[in-house]
Amino acid sequence: MPEEKSNPEPSAPCGCTRRTFEKLGIGALAVAGVGAAAFGYEYLAPNVLYEPSPITNAGKPDQYPSGSVTTLSEAGVYLIHGPQGFYALSATCTHLGCRTAWAAALGIIACPCHGSKFNIDGIKIAGPAPRPLPWLRVWISDDGDLMVDRSVTVAEQQFLRV
Ligand code: FES
Repeated sequence: MPEEKSNPEPSAPCGCTRRTFEKLGIGALAVAGVGAAAFGYEYLAPNVLYEPSPITNAGKPDQYPSGSVTTLSEAGVYLIHGPQGFYALSATCTHLGCRTAWAAALGIIACPCHGSKFNIDGIKIAGPAPRPLPWLRVWISDDGDLMVDRSVTVAEQQFLRV
């Protein structure tokens, strides 16, 4: 008795079986869904920069002897313990924004980019910088630590006496 041949599945436009064609369709929809979800997330996510806090905890004041100039490198700040008290200066040059450096041997703050120089109070003494280095807010926290906020400038000659 001749064996009855089973009815082959109708072929899809790709020349593959219908089942394979359905799997390809589901796969394509899944890829499109993932892409749409990614674009949707990009669209809905807040367009903000996550920057580190501008506030630096510099520790206990007694670790800074009188007359010291300390560079808080990560904050981009000089913490100075002068005869009248503590104050902080921005280490960013007011010319084109280069990072300045404390030249202890000369007792000045110098910019390596175009030669601006500032005295210990941030006043420009040479070079193209148009303004003095800004004074920054300094205060004592509830825990007794020195705090510096580089995002808040204060008037010059505002010292923190501890
Ligand atoms: S950036 Fe400092 S002198 Fe130009």
